[in-house]
Amino acid sequence: MKEYLTSYHHFLHGADYNPEQWIRYPGMLDEDIRFMKDAHCNVMSVGIFSWFILEPEEGKYDFAFMDQVVDKLSEHGIKIILATPSGARPRWLAERYPEVLRVSRDCRREKYGFRQNHCYTSPIYREKVANIDRRIAKRYQGNQNIILWHISNEYGGECHCGLCQQAFRTWLRDKYGNDLDRLNDAWWTGFWSHIVTDWQQIHSPTSIGEPDYVLPGLFMDWKEFITWQTTSFMREEIAAVKAVTPDIPVTTNFMGPYQHLDYHFMKRYVDVISWDSYPSWHSERGDIVEAYSIAFAHDLHRCFHHRPFLLMESTPSNTNWFDICKLKRPGMHKLSSIQAIAHGSDSVQYFQWRKGRGGLEKFHGAVIDHRGEAKGRVFQDVREVGLLLESIDEIAGSRTSAEVAVVYDYRNRWVLENASGFQNRDKKYKRTCINHYKEFWKRGMNVDVIGLDDDLERYGIVVFPMLYSVSKENIRRIEEYVAGGGTAIATYITGYVNEMDLCYLGGFPGGELKEVFGLAAEEIDTLYETDRNTVRFQNRVYGAVDYCELIVPTTAEAIAFYEDDFYAEKGAVFKNEYKRGTAYYIGFRDSGEFLAAFYDTVIRRSALKYYDLPYGVALHTRETKGREYFFLENYNKFDAVVKIPENIRNLETGKEMYDSIVVKGYDAVIGVRSVAGG
Ligand code: GLA
Ligand code: ZN
Repeated sequence: MKEYLTSYHHFLHGADYNPEQWIRYPGMLDEDIRFMKDAHCNVMSVGIFSWFILEPEEGKYDFAFMDQVVDKLSEHGIKIILATPSGARPRWLAERYPEVLRVSRDCRREKYGFRQNHCYTSPIYREKVANIDRRIAKRYQGNQNIILWHISNEYGGECHCGLCQQAFRTWLRDKYGNDLDRLNDAWWTGFWSHIVTDWQQIHSPTSIGEPDYVLPGLFMDWKEFITWQTTSFMREEIAAVKAVTPDIPVTTNFMGPYQHLDYHFMKRYVDVISWDSYPSWHSERGDIVEAYSIAFAHDLHRCFHHRPFLLMESTPSNTNWFDICKLKRPGMHKLSSIQAIAHGSDSVQYFQWRKGRGGLEKFHGAVIDHRGEAKGRVFQDVREVGLLLESIDEIAGSRTSAEVAVVYDYRNRWVLENASGFQNRDKKYKRTCINHYKEFWKRGMNVDVIGLDDDLERYGIVVFPMLYSVSKENIRRIEEYVAGGGTAIATYITGYVNEMDLCYLGGFPGGELKEVFGLAAEEIDTLYETDRNTVRFQNRVYGAVDYCELIVPTTAEAIAFYEDDFYAEKGAVFKNEYKRGTAYYIGFRDSGEFLAAFYDTVIRRSALKYYDLPYGVALHTRETKGREYFFLENYNKFDAVVKIPENIRNLETGKEMYDSIVVKGYDAVIGVRSVAGG
């Protein structure tokens, strides 16, 4: 496998560059390039919203402005990530071809406006997009400065138009082998007499017809179809540019654990993974919570291809769209950027280069603000990151290896959150995954965040938080993993239903999971916010909130016990030795401290490498031939002293660091050491 993501074997540092907004301001381009050099930027993403300037009228093309941008950037050695402009369409397109406009959930055709809201089925939209994509590719074919295609921008949403309905029906016919009986069975349509007798009767879930939650099978197929259809749209765009420039890799910017598309499917069709990360530093929930939540998302993206990714967008200061648009405290920009690198990013890029004068995003942080000078705190922060990336350039391309994985599965999230039952206000799937992840994060362990279909065998521990929905095939894979010597950790609400939200018969968790975990979950108690139970584990008592499962063990041994209510004294957490492995089952939701004690026991027993770190300090590593890089990140305001057994050399200062390493508040230290076997 290639080490680097693009033909440019360095860290990337740059921004979305939208100069077409400044067409009435001559001289801006030259000024921008001077500032870019000053900020130590080496890449710009261009053309993301440039459709109108390239094709102001149907079939009339004008590349003059874009030529200038591409030429100037190229002359100055600033690499280009070239975008396809499908995210926002010109007015003429919607005016002439209303079918490109989306039909919303209430079954109304939208008017022109906004962005990323086209019908992804419309043959006309697909044709017009492929056409402009091809023309852009042809125009800049051969420009060695273009290192990557940025396909569209943040795909998302859904369309309920007639074309989409037909495409959905065709997709269903294919999935169910043209057999309505199979579909009725999978959707459990005998419920409320909703049997489908003709493919034409099928309609997506809407606000005026079938809601999402009545026939979860319909909902699941619709969700899967949206991912499928969005991906098929994206693949047509990719095909259009690849036909002209087969050697330029493609990416599309993902949005973290965004719940509306299954990135575990989409990831297969792009060469490079990239994502847009907008942490809310200094918010009410605190920087440490924010740090491990964002860390989780970075790891998720790294694991899409199990190789470095790109941080395609981040803000150099604040956003314009948080409830409270707070500034980054001194040091935070650098720390946040290093965090991305620590988790496997090969870039730090921003939205955007220069603040617009008008429009929605004029107060969104940017490298150059309305003052229009290469000055000020934000500019200096960006410059500092540019210099830093140059000084640690040898890290670009290096890999991450993890012995632990946490499963975050998009399909499971859909089906769980859509299920009627348990806690209907908020089932907290993502938060639960992150809370388990945190236990490894705070011990300086690299963690892979993977999908259910990923390879499990390579990990010592795999955590499956709230794995409500699991197919028979995945049950088999989990069984194999534990049987082969792995350690699996599952929680309440595991294996209740298959991938279509049909309950497993014969008791939960379904199929062989009962043997793997050595128990049956008979009932689940859902608590009000004011309710509390407690659980005793190793002579200490911990709070239980939200969920308490009532579990009957078969071969498993109870290692923690409920203390209150009618299930007092019954087991709450179980351990089962299964074939060559071990399976733990946590039957309740922890109010905050149990997981720390539990993972302490499990990790110590596992012989996996971990560190004793001050709270709020993270440690991650990346490796390349013969070298291991250490990233020590301090998310506290105050300095921390870190003791690690390795002797490392500080990459920025060149000094050897022994014993205690001081990491300043909101700062990071990057070190390196030689390792055998390079
Ligand atoms: C997204 C988009 C950008 C911009 C930023 C603002 O990530 O891709 O075009 O709107 O949000 O934060
Ligand atoms: Zn449509």
